[in-house]
Amino acid sequence: MSDTTQRTQWSSSLGFIIACVGSAVGLGNIWKFPYIAYENGGGAFVTIYLLAIFLVGFPIIVAEMVLGRHAKLNSYGTFKKLSKDNKFWKAVGLLCIFSATAILSFYSVVAGWTLDYFWNSLVGNFSTMTFENSGERFGSFVGNGYKQVFYHTLFMIFTAFIVLKGTKGIEKAVKILLPVLGALVLFIAGVSFYNYGASETFSFMFHFDFSTITKHGVLEAVGHAFFTLSLGLGCMIVYGSYLPSNVSIVRAGIWITILDTLIAVLACFMMYPIIFGTKMEVNESAAILFTTLSVQFNSLPGGNIIAALFYLLVAFAALSSTISLLEPVVSFIDETYNIPRKKGTLIGSLLVWFIGVICALGNGASDFFSHLALMDKLDYITSNWTLPVGGMLIALFAGFFVSKKDIQAEFSQAELTKFYPLWNICIRYISPAFVLIVILYKLGVF
Ligand code: PHE
Repeated sequence: MSDTTQRTQWSSSLGFIIACVGSAVGLGNIWKFPYIAYENGGGAFVTIYLLAIFLVGFPIIVAEMVLGRHAKLNSYGTFKKLSKDNKFWKAVGLLCIFSATAILSFYSVVAGWTLDYFWNSLVGNFSTMTFENSGERFGSFVGNGYKQVFYHTLFMIFTAFIVLKGTKGIEKAVKILLPVLGALVLFIAGVSFYNYGASETFSFMFHFDFSTITKHGVLEAVGHAFFTLSLGLGCMIVYGSYLPSNVSIVRAGIWITILDTLIAVLACFMMYPIIFGTKMEVNESAAILFTTLSVQFNSLPGGNIIAALFYLLVAFAALSSTISLLEPVVSFIDETYNIPRKKGTLIGSLLVWFIGVICALGNGASDFFSHLALMDKLDYITSNWTLPVGGMLIALFAGFFVSKKDIQAEFSQAELTKFYPLWNICIRYISPAFVLIVILYKLGVF
């Protein structure tokens, strides 16, 4: 698709914001944030995370959309075009494509877990489960690599199908299902508070003891800020490339950041009261989404239906994220090699599916794959390294290497006077310095 003027566009400003929120809100908020915040002792970790969201995440979300809308290309194409074929920046574009491929591979496997929990809730298999044995059930499921391959395959088929249909399908579905998920999360948090009280959860979340935080925790908090906002891999560059010129990027960025953060915090409020209230033993914190809620639903009338609905909506939130992960890969194949979208989707999906299968088989299917532990490795490398580094470079690219005129063209007159000067300082100095300091700290430089 060499003629960029023919790119499809979002139907409206709201449609665009919703699709971006769909990308941002996903397993990162509902599955990952509660468990890594729990692992890292709460308060101090959450503070660093929030600082990273507002000082680094928000400015970079704006930068990615500005770059994408200006270049009207995928992330690699954007770097290539705006840097006038500079080798270094083209390599950064490739790093983005690598991150998207790697994240999607393991993300789709975890998304598959939610399908299993959806199905088993629906047919009533969890109705007698207790807090004592829910961990065991989860363990035996994630120890079954073949089952996970099945669900991962299903998930990749859904993702590829929607990516093929273009952006319209994404908008329509997210518009209805995401608000329902938000309401359900709020409701479940209310039930948890009602059943087990809120005080311990609040003191855990807002207790700022910085001695609990490790070097790894600091990097993880910053890395997760990128992960949860879908940043540092050009996903928002691609979404921005479909954005009509009259839509305010600043407004979209504000909405995405606020809603994403809200859902992540609410997700903790769903699970922590249960953990603290039942004095549950948490052997594997990555399991808490599944071990706490699947049992609590039994306390509600029609609990299995509410449970099924909940896991289905989480699966859907994951789907609106996997779509946004496959899209950069497909548009890269499509625009770089002039391969038609259909074929590009097939190639991209098969590649991701294959890596995902290796991830899934690593969960107990064979010693060889378990030793490889590809899933943990890909999660660690992308979330902690390639996203923050990619994001830092994107900030520097927008701040110093693209002409001021090109960047300013993407802001309205009012934004240029009120917002731009502050954003410019953030994107040039504050955001990259923040990430760099954290990386150097982790590397032991100070
Ligand atoms: N932001 C998504 C989540 O929190 C994951 C994601 C990462 C999506 C990077 C796109 C790009 O679940």
